[in-house]
Amino acid sequence: MSILVTGGAGYIGSHTCVELLNAGNEIIVLDNLSNSKPEALDRIKEITGKDFEFYQADLLNKNELMTIFSENKIDAVIHFAGLKAVGESVSIPLHYYHNNITGTLILCEVMEKFGVYNLVFSSSATVYGLQQCVPLHEELPTGATNPYGRTKLMIEEILRDVHVANNKWSIALLRYFNPVGAHSSGRIGEDPNGIPNNLVPYITQVTVGKLPKLKVFGNDYPTEDGTGVRDYIHVVDLAAGHLMALEKVMDSQGVNAYNLGTGIGYSVLEMIDAFERASGNSIPYEIIDRRPGDIGVSYADSSKAKQELNWVAQKGIDDMCRDSWRWQINNPNGYEKDQVKRKISVT
Ligand code: NAD
Ligand code: UFG
Repeated sequence: MSILVTGGAGYIGSHTCVELLNAGNEIIVLDNLSNSKPEALDRIKEITGKDFEFYQADLLNKNELMTIFSENKIDAVIHFAGLKAVGESVSIPLHYYHNNITGTLILCEVMEKFGVYNLVFSSSATVYGLQQCVPLHEELPTGATNPYGRTKLMIEEILRDVHVANNKWSIALLRYFNPVGAHSSGRIGEDPNGIPNNLVPYITQVTVGKLPKLKVFGNDYPTEDGTGVRDYIHVVDLAAGHLMALEKVMDSQGVNAYNLGTGIGYSVLEMIDAFERASGNSIPYEIIDRRPGDIGVSYADSSKAKQELNWVAQKGIDDMCRDSWRWQINNPNGYEKDQVKRKISVT
């Protein structure tokens, strides 16, 4: 099968490209590299020993998309490309709405033009909003608390409308919980720009000494130790979920939402503990106030993905921490080391 991967140079996209290539698929990667580095693409090739076409292109540029679809035979699209920083989305909402929503509209228009109706979309557990009743299941009412979350919610709705208008569409809306970890090779992983917003990249940077200490956002939530509880899922399990969703999309029609999580919640203090075990280092932290907009507890009911996609997360908390740690110590500055090497070899 030949799959267009939008955002394939990014964190989840790069891991999914590895799984797609290892399963014998052909891929075409589209990314504008606004939040990723070309080295990730080199490393996908290195891990898999396989080559693929890469287009440094923007979803907002319809002509570029038309070129990609006319130069390649595409059976399905996995659509990761989007901006994802919650805080930034509050500061520059128009940019988020334009990039994520208009980008998806243009992608769907071009797909229709070329008769490609199979789509796997990166949604998020953020579409459950401030929901209090866990585990979160797909039938719960949705909501959003920030512009980023609203882009995911609006795109889900748009894709449902697209299918109502033309029932050839077959779409999986994958609602990821908290992706962490890295490929076991230690060659690809999460490479956030600047100071990380998310817990695990923040912990890894404290552990290598790039940041002085972790700030734990609140210990007065109604959880066992008072700190926030999340459903962390290994990015390689998540990548595998995309292959299962793709199979489903290829032999059915309609729009289906699936939670991709482990169903187990860990608190911030439990994550610190697990990371100390994995790295052999102690992690300094202080408790500060809650982060505005955070919910106390979020974990998935993933039984629909199990029943309909035959997908279950395989990796546990120790795998996640060990693999995140391996990526961090092998690449203390993310993909930057390779860029320095490149610059040197050019001069
Ligand atoms: P990422 O930033 O690492 O990857 C997204 C990629 O899309 C980047 O490489 C970026 O350069 C590219 N991109 C952005 N806008 C583009 C555009 N207009 N044209 C072309 N390329 C563009 O993020 P990720 O963590 O891999 O997330 C992938 C998807 O999953 C995103 O849609 C994100 O919202 C969603 N998601 C992520 C998380 C998470 O915690 N990582 C959780 C839930 C959902
Ligand atoms: N936390 C800290 N200190 C930090 C960072 C996080 O204590 O420096 C805590 C948070 O309060 C929360 C937990 O660690 O309790 C996880 O926080 P993350 O920022 O890693 O993840 P969130 O669940 O807040 O949000 C993430 C993504 C969202 C996405 C959501 C659901 O950032 O975009 O998962 O998929 F919508």
